[in-house]
Amino acid sequence: MLILWLLAAYPFAHAPQAASTDASAARRMQAAVHREFGSPDVLRLEQFDKPVPGEHQVLVRIRAASVNPLDWHYLEGTPYLARPPAFGLLRPQDGRLGADYAGTIEAVGREVTRFKPGDEVFGGARGALAEYCCVSAEGALVLKPANMSFEQVAAVPVAAITALQALRDQAQLRAGQRVLINGASGGVGTFAVQIAKSLGANVTGVCSTRNEELVRSLGADRVIDYTKQDFTRGGERWDVIIDNVGNRSILDCRRVLAPEGHYVLVGGGGVLEARWLGPLPRVLQMLALSPFVSQDMRMFMADMNKEDLAVLGEMMQAGKLTPVIDRRYALRDAAAALRYLELGHARGKVVILMGEPGEAPTTSSDAAAVPENRPGPLPIALALFGAALLVTLVPIVLALVLHRRFRRIHPGKRAYRWGFYFGLQSFVVALMLGVLFGAGIGALLALGLVYGVLGWAFARRRRWAWVALTLLSFNPVAWIVNAIYLRKRWTEDAAAMPAARARA
Ligand SMILES: NC(=O)c1ccc[n+]([C@@H]2O[C@H](COP(=O)([O-])OP(=O)(O)OC[C@H]3O[C@@H](n4cnc5c(N)ncnc54)[C@H](OP(=O)(O)O)[C@@H]3O)[C@@H](O)[C@H]2O)c1
Repeated sequence: MLILWLLAAYPFAHAPQAASTDASAARRMQAAVHREFGSPDVLRLEQFDKPVPGEHQVLVRIRAASVNPLDWHYLEGTPYLARPPAFGLLRPQDGRLGADYAGTIEAVGREVTRFKPGDEVFGGARGALAEYCCVSAEGALVLKPANMSFEQVAAVPVAAITALQALRDQAQLRAGQRVLINGASGGVGTFAVQIAKSLGANVTGVCSTRNEELVRSLGADRVIDYTKQDFTRGGERWDVIIDNVGNRSILDCRRVLAPEGHYVLVGGGGVLEARWLGPLPRVLQMLALSPFVSQDMRMFMADMNKEDLAVLGEMMQAGKLTPVIDRRYALRDAAAALRYLELGHARGKVVILMGEPGEAPTTSSDAAAVPENRPGPLPIALALFGAALLVTLVPIVLALVLHRRFRRIHPGKRAYRWGFYFGLQSFVVALMLGVLFGAGIGALLALGLVYGVLGWAFARRRRWAWVALTLLSFNPVAWIVNAIYLRKRWTEDAAAMPAARARA
């Protein structure tokens, strides 16, 4: 789920090729890339050949881009669990960064009818921290509203689409409902407050003292200062909670949700937090809780598409949505922009300006960096490999060893081969779930004890232990396989019983 989110949130765009030495200056472009995982210090500005649009593509000269937490996830390769499938195990599969851009169409492919050279557009594409990009003309790309500047619309795609889809599609927010936006002053939050207001909701924004006035000015009916008040501790209830921070427990959030309310987890976690698993523990907690509560609790992944960009464009044109821009950086200072974003206290959006050729755009001053405390790629890869081994191979090998031992000690008796495997696998899965659910060491020891006792009874061929272990494997496949297998074994045992008695 998390991996799909990371992949889906970065739509495909044409990759620039490294520049050949004889390429003329007019055919060159600069792009921010990273060849290794790490802090923004590893970001470099490199020269590439300007990409050439394919038949169905357009070439956009990017005038402004904006950065999102998604960019530092790619830069840092976090959460580490997503490295093998999404980022690259030891080094980045694709060093481009950036997802939001606005600019002018410079050339169109032969089959393109939707746009023409000179059109001013904005959209989402992987590799937007560059002077040019080639994108599909049918992809997430729309005309820029005339009343907005390039830097304003460059702030929109990822953050505003996320806010729109969270409120409209995931929470199905209706006029008159009460919505709370946790993290109301950031990129997603500043859009969410305005969109919720335009949908006719009563909006509560959660932010720090310095951002109270900003959030109120965006239309929030009420502001909760998180430095003074915990929104989960009052007696109030909301129909919808949009959580951009994820700093309160799922149970606490549920307590302040109306009985038929919706909780939508958008994201959360700073650059040095939840680095191994990302939002996975919270997602599992919600999945486990969902069947037992009346509220709808979910995480979702934004889907970048032209229809929703058009909706946002109309809202901007109608004056219902105005991007909040905190800081502006030049492309050469993209690392400083990401350093600032990583601190986790941006007020609205952080924008990158490309500037005219030869012109140096105004740039914000550099920000303090989040302190370096990152393990190298090899220890991370080894830890992921070890965890995969523990979950898959170790129960199989141990089950084989136990099976052989059983047959040596009880010659002639048939051992429950699958049972050894499921018993051990349940033990490992239970410990993993304990860790994911944030169980303390006491709970983990209790789990180990329960599974140890069950395993011992299981080895003595107690049927109740078989059933308990199967159920506690939390694995529907194990439930089905064991239901068939145990039924068969017990029928065989029952048939063999009279013969054994007769021999005795
Ligand atoms: N699911 C998706 O498809 C999707 C899409 C986009 C983004 N996301 C995720 O959503 C999250 C938010 O993204 P963003 O672009 O809004 O990030 P952002 O711009 O970096 O958000 C920073 C804001 O968070 C606020 N904040 C920090 N701690 C807070 C707390 N304890 N309570 C309330 N507010 C707090 C800060 O306010 P103060 O300065 O006042 O502390 C700041 O304004 C990120 O985790 C991102 O990865 C998910």
